[in-house]
Amino acid sequence: MNVLVTGGAGFIGSHTCVELLENGHDVIIVDNFSNSKQICVERIEQIAGKKVQLYSIDIRDRAALSRVFEENSVDCVIHFAGYKAVGESVKLPLKYYQNNITGTITLLEVMEQYGCRMMVFSSSATVYGPENPIPYVETMKTNEATNPYGWTKVMIEQILRDLSAAQPAWSIALLRYFNPIGAHPSGLIGEDPQGIPNNLVPYIAKVATGELESLGVFGNDYDTPDGTGVRDYIHVVDLAAGHVKALDYAARHKGVLEVNLGTGRGSSVLEILHAYERACGHELAYQIKPRRAGDLPAFYADTTKAKELLGWEARFTIEEMCRDSWNFVKRQMEEAE
Ligand code: NAD
Ligand code: WQD
Repeated sequence: MNVLVTGGAGFIGSHTCVELLENGHDVIIVDNFSNSKQICVERIEQIAGKKVQLYSIDIRDRAALSRVFEENSVDCVIHFAGYKAVGESVKLPLKYYQNNITGTITLLEVMEQYGCRMMVFSSSATVYGPENPIPYVETMKTNEATNPYGWTKVMIEQILRDLSAAQPAWSIALLRYFNPIGAHPSGLIGEDPQGIPNNLVPYIAKVATGELESLGVFGNDYDTPDGTGVRDYIHVVDLAAGHVKALDYAARHKGVLEVNLGTGRGSSVLEILHAYERACGHELAYQIKPRRAGDLPAFYADTTKAKELLGWEARFTIEEMCRDSWNFVKRQMEEAE
C-alpha cells in the first residue's frame, strides 16, 4: 500500500516507517520537524534500503497537505503528528488543542476530499483515565483524561468514532500505546528529546551518559511491589510492528477498531533503572523524590484483543529495550564527539 505517515520522522513514526518499508509498503512522510530532525529520514532509508518521499510541511497547512494527496495516490494514513508533553500541555493547553485537534481535523477533511478513508491513529493508554482498574481492557470507559494532552487523545478518538458512524466507508484503528521505549537495534534511530527529558527512560539514559547527575524517582510509597510506579514498557520496534498488523486489519474491515498495544506486563521504576544499569555496565545514581502530580501508581494492558484480532504480540524483553536504548544513546554520543 501507499502509506502516508504524518510525524514519520518522530520516535514511533520513524520505527514504523522502517517496518512498513520492510513489509513491502511505500511510504510518504509528512513532518514539520517541530520535534525531530531530517537526518532521521535518511536513517530510515539506510536501515530499510529503500527510499521514502518526504514533505516538510505542517499538517495544518491545508493547501500543502492537499498537494501531497494530489501528487500521490494515498491508500492509508498513519497519523502520529502531534505534541505529546503532558506537563507542557497543562501550561499551554491551546498549543496542544490547536496542533493535535486542528491538525487531525484538517487531515481528515483533506483525506475525505481525496477519497482516502483509512486511518491508523496514535492514541494512548492515557485515555483510560484515573478511575479504571488494571489491566486496562478496550471495553472500559475512556472519557476522563487528567491533562490537556490526554484530552486531545480522548477527543480525537471521539471525532473518529463520530466520523465512522456518519460515514461507514471509513476504516479506523485507534491504537492505544502503553509506554514505548528502546530504539532500533541498528542504533541508527531512537528517542532523542531536546532539553531535560520528562519521561523515565530518556532521563535514565542521560544519567548513564553523565549528562545528568542522578534520577529522581517520583515516589516509593505506592502500593506496588517495591513502592515505585509500575508501567507497561513496550519496545518501539514491537509497537511499530503492531502498526503494520493494524494496517492489514483496517484494509480488510470498515468501522473503528480500538486496541491496546502493550506487553501486558508491568515494571517498576527501579526495575527499569536496574535493567539500564546492566545495559550500560555501571551503577546509576538515584534519589527518592515526592510523587509527581497526576501520576497513577500502576497501569498495564490487557493484550487479548491485539493477539486475537491482529495476531500481534510484543516480543522484546525489558533487558532488550534497555540494551537497544543504550546502543542508540551511546552512538549519538560518539557521533557528537
Ligand atoms: P514525536 O514527537 O517523536 O513524533 C511526532 C512527530 O510529529 C515529530 O516528528 C514532529 O516533528 C511531528 N509533528 C508534530 N506536529 C506536527 C504538525 N502539525 N505537522 C507535521 N508534523 C508534526 O512523538 P512520538 O513519541 O513518536 O509520538 C507519536 C505519536 O504517538 C504522538 O501522537 C503521541 O501523542 C503518540 N503517543 C506517544 C507515546 C509516547 O510515549 N511516546 C505514547 C502514547 C501515544
Ligand atoms: C514512567 C514512570 C513516573 C520520570 C507518559 C504520559 C503518557 C504516555 C507515555 C503519551 C512513572 C516515573 C518518570 C522521572 C520517575 N505518553 N518517573 N522519574 O507518565 O507513565 O506516561 O508517557 O501518550 O500519556 O503520561 O511515563 O516515562 O513519564 O513515567 O520516577 O524522572 O517513571 O513517576 O511512574 P508516564 P513516564
